[in-house]
Amino acid sequence: VITRYSEPYRPAFHFSPDHNWMNDPNGLLFYEGEYHLFYQYNPFGNKWGHMSWGHAVSNDLLHWEHLPVAIAEYIDKASGDSTMIFSGSAVADVNNTSGFFPKDSGGIVAIYTSHIHKNNQQLTQHQSIAYSADRGRAFTRYENNPVLDKKLKDFRDPKVFWYAPEKKWVMSVVIPDKFKAQFYTSKNLKEWTLLSEFGPLGDTAKIWECPDLVEVPLLDDSSKKKWVLFISNSHPQGPTYVGMQYFVGNFDGKKFTPENPTQYPLYLEYGKDFYAAVTFNNIPQKDGRTILLGWANNWAYGQDIPTSSWRSAMTLPREVYLKNTPQGYRIVQKPVKEIVALREDSVHYTPPGKVFPGKAFEAEYVYTSGTAAKFGLKIITGEDEQTIIGYDKKKEEVFLDRTKSGNVAFHQTFPSVERAPAKLQNGKLKLHVFVDNSIIEVFINDGENVITDQIFPSSAEYSLEQFKEGGEAVTNLRVWKIKSVWLRE
Ligand code: FRU
Repeated sequence: VITRYSEPYRPAFHFSPDHNWMNDPNGLLFYEGEYHLFYQYNPFGNKWGHMSWGHAVSNDLLHWEHLPVAIAEYIDKASGDSTMIFSGSAVADVNNTSGFFPKDSGGIVAIYTSHIHKNNQQLTQHQSIAYSADRGRAFTRYENNPVLDKKLKDFRDPKVFWYAPEKKWVMSVVIPDKFKAQFYTSKNLKEWTLLSEFGPLGDTAKIWECPDLVEVPLLDDSSKKKWVLFISNSHPQGPTYVGMQYFVGNFDGKKFTPENPTQYPLYLEYGKDFYAAVTFNNIPQKDGRTILLGWANNWAYGQDIPTSSWRSAMTLPREVYLKNTPQGYRIVQKPVKEIVALREDSVHYTPPGKVFPGKAFEAEYVYTSGTAAKFGLKIITGEDEQTIIGYDKKKEEVFLDRTKSGNVAFHQTFPSVERAPAKLQNGKLKLHVFVDNSIIEVFINDGENVITDQIFPSSAEYSLEQFKEGGEAVTNLRVWKIKSVWLRE
């Protein structure tokens, strides 16, 4: 048995780079039986810089194989300008619309923001492309880049998808400081024309980044879909942190029209460590899922988290659906169904006291009735050191308190209590919790809201305990250890 990693905070079943700095997921794509995860990567250090596209592939969205840097930062010899490869997407150009591939064959085309800078001065951002005929192992930058240039300083994060009804490519991209998404179209990925604009709307407290316009299946009937526009911006608890919002509506091939324009902002997450999430392109029709992956870190303190020699991890890949509620359609998120295969046999049911599930585990906590004002779970990681995931009946919210979760002093904005609105449903509350060394994801009431947070405990051993305050709580708890995806036998 070979365990690849043994660092104290290394996630066992979340993706993290082998070493160095990572931020946004890029180019999420299913292609010829493989899931591709490209990501914002600094090949030279564990803080942001020299941004390039890192790369990993997987067959099941959980076990990843690290591959060499796919598209690297480069310096233009003539001008001396440096180009960083910022966030973007990848498509399966199976019909060779780009003409990059030999006759009767296709390949992968990556669409990214070329971020031009000189002497640490940001000059411009435009959109460029690169192509690969060998399943993403080697990319060639297009000789006539950029393919979309508006002479803007900030103009980024192209997400391209195939719009089947009109057999054309559509790109969403943002003008961050104008809180605007734009939609462009192309027949060949090389020439782009503007279709329409969207925004400002909803949360405009922080710049807009990483747009994703995508069809999302309805929870009740996955054969029906609606269009959703995801945007990375500020956090529901205010602009100190980054977070995400979404809009639900229709896209007619030209224009995105949101439903109930007065209902926004709608937030995708209530945790502090969730940003830049986008969905996979080209998931087979028969699978029918829309799968989202986010960066489990935060720009406010992300470059200072006490991990080494890597920094940052991704969230679990999540299936997203739209639930019809009296207030309108709302996103629900569930960990991908593949995750069940990582459960170890040993299951603990409703323990009266503490459970010792290791540092990588899953817990299903169901509250059915009681008089307690607050109840939930404590992850105990040392003397006077714990992370509390609880429900406050009066405030009708789930909270995650990491103020005493271990090392919180590395940045003044790190210690915090996250709060997500949650109503009891027929008197019940469900928490589906994933704990993975330094990452916690809490899916509330079947994914109606989610809290993703990092913790950096001091102890090598975690224990799990139920708590209740001010009365009784009738609950049910099941706990599974989760296998490391880096373990090879
Ligand atoms: C989002 C972001 C993107 C940009 C990338 C640079 O986290 O700021 O807008 O393309 O990171 O690394």
